[in-house]
Amino acid sequence: MSDETLSNLLREERRFPPPAELTAAANVTAAAYQEAADDGEAFWAAQAARLDWAEPWTRVRDWSRAPFARWFVGGRLNVAYNCLDRHVAAGHGDRVAFHWEGEPGDTRTLTYADLTDEVCRAANALLSLGVRASDRVAIYMPMIPETVVAMLACARIGAPHTVVFGGFSADALRGRILDCDARVVVTADGGYRKGAPSALKPAVDEALERCPDVRSVLVVRRTGQEVGWTEGRDVWWHDLVAGQPAEHEPEAFDSEHPLYIMYTSGTTARPKGILHTTGGYLTQVAWSHWAVFDVKPEQDVYWTAADIGWVTGHSYIVYGPLANGVTSVLYEGTPDSPHQGRWWEIVQKYGVTILYCAPTAIRTFMKWGDAIPGRYDLSSLRLLGSVGEPINPEAWMWYRRAIGGDRCPVVDTWWQTETGAQMISPLPGVSTCKPGSALRPLPGISAEVVDDTGRPVPNGSGGYLVLTEPWPAMLRTIWGDEQRYIDTYWSRFPGRYFAGDGAKKDEDGDIWLLGRVDDVMNVSGHRISTTEVESALVSHPRVAEAAVVGAADATTGQGIVAFVILRGDNEQPADTTSAEDLGRELRAHVAKEIGPIARPRQILVVAELPKTRSGKIMRRLLRDIAENRSLGDVTTLTDSSVMDAIRDRLPSGA
Ligand code: WTA
Repeated sequence: MSDETLSNLLREERRFPPPAELTAAANVTAAAYQEAADDGEAFWAAQAARLDWAEPWTRVRDWSRAPFARWFVGGRLNVAYNCLDRHVAAGHGDRVAFHWEGEPGDTRTLTYADLTDEVCRAANALLSLGVRASDRVAIYMPMIPETVVAMLACARIGAPHTVVFGGFSADALRGRILDCDARVVVTADGGYRKGAPSALKPAVDEALERCPDVRSVLVVRRTGQEVGWTEGRDVWWHDLVAGQPAEHEPEAFDSEHPLYIMYTSGTTARPKGILHTTGGYLTQVAWSHWAVFDVKPEQDVYWTAADIGWVTGHSYIVYGPLANGVTSVLYEGTPDSPHQGRWWEIVQKYGVTILYCAPTAIRTFMKWGDAIPGRYDLSSLRLLGSVGEPINPEAWMWYRRAIGGDRCPVVDTWWQTETGAQMISPLPGVSTCKPGSALRPLPGISAEVVDDTGRPVPNGSGGYLVLTEPWPAMLRTIWGDEQRYIDTYWSRFPGRYFAGDGAKKDEDGDIWLLGRVDDVMNVSGHRISTTEVESALVSHPRVAEAAVVGAADATTGQGIVAFVILRGDNEQPADTTSAEDLGRELRAHVAKEIGPIARPRQILVVAELPKTRSGKIMRRLLRDIAENRSLGDVTTLTDSSVMDAIRDRLPSGA
């Protein structure tokens, strides 16, 4: 973020107190901050009591082996039972769990009773495939009800799932399957995206060519596309699941039993398998969903417009809303299929009251203009949320006005795959919101902004965001790599969790998130590592070296810009057309290696890259070029003429 943007942010003086009506009936009042500050363990123990435990815990938290935490020690519970059966037992079986809307306009309604039956059948199906507690199951799916069913079926039998975003490539899928040694894959023929069926099964087939231990692939028929079929390995969902009994006795698992692994990009090429466990995770997602969105299960229609393949979908489409017995919307497709009013049509159709999405979507809608949401009745909305990247004040204001009719509070929620649940956010019935600020840590959460030496910065200054106390939904480790867990999160500031984000405290002590301080880019709310894209590029035969930066982008937050050096002496593209062809080829190559979300916005062929004396690429300078700013300080460059050489080679305007 440029200094100018930063100082604009901190001059932001608009204030939005909570609507009186919301405050009067709010789930959480200001007292929660004090209660949690007085006794954090008692606070979280009270929240854990929202769940049904088969065995009570004996200790709220055990931090004796820090940074390896245990929460609700000795307690036992079943996540699927807590998300489903208990609501049915309480007489809410007829309540809608999901209004599902397919992209082509087909719909399905699943009540809590329906979903419970489906999950029991799927759990029995997984058991029949030999899946047992602690076995890993990979899920590679479109946004259809079976995705939720598969996750809960895994949770029900204690088999940790790893959901791989459907936009990831066969290579990325294979890497994840191998890393966690999954033996069963749940997928579909395809899903609908941008108005057309988009295949998934071919990527599974390709991935499994080199995953010899996967024995079963359970395939949902969604699009009816032709699929390749491996006899003895592949089985149709409708053949196997439909015939299973709808009864399944849930087993209670230890509070620390692994619930899922979610891979996320780090600063190296190899994604990290973030491990979440059972009791603490479910407690914090259920509590935060109830508190931050002020949900009223009997009245609200809640919609997280994100993909289940990301942590936001895990915590706030699946586990949080279901643990709270809430009615949700689940939408399969893209916001502009078949038209740019699709989201608002859905809000109107189902009477959505709470909407949660990413700033990149908000900025896209802003670009499309007010007239589009203006055509729909959005008066059912009462609360709006934002997640995934810093939201600039103008996008925040637009969201509040054009979508929220100037009456809905906007909660900007900061959290990460690693934190499992929301950490820094306004409380809608309590906080006076500031456009662009996530304000303060939620009750029960301790965060600080520190300088290089780890000392808290005074109000009005910036630094690094750290979390100073363990929290229930925190990651427990990186799958199979405890040392990397310690090094990545707990070594930069010993004893404290280093989030990798820059932040600033304003004069009131409220927190403004400023984006990543490491080599992780944030493109449309998706974390992508610069190194991951660089290694994809250098795996192409024509590329000798690559440096990738995230350049500011008005819509996607950041766009990926790659600087590449080609192999050989005479390999510079001869003319513009061949340069364009090469650019296209390399962009397609990255999309194939990682997935379309990692496709660079721009590829610039250069002769040299700017490096420090220790050989580290100076991304800051490359970012300056990519963002077309005047160059920063180049004195640590081995050869400062490199920058001129780069500039000379660039097409004008780049
Ligand atoms: C960024 C998504 C500013 C941040 C839930 C973090 C945010 C990364 C916000 C985690 C926010 C998320 N304001 N930045 N409200 N929410 N981020 O793991 O850089 O996909 O470290 O989790 O997104 O991304 P992840």
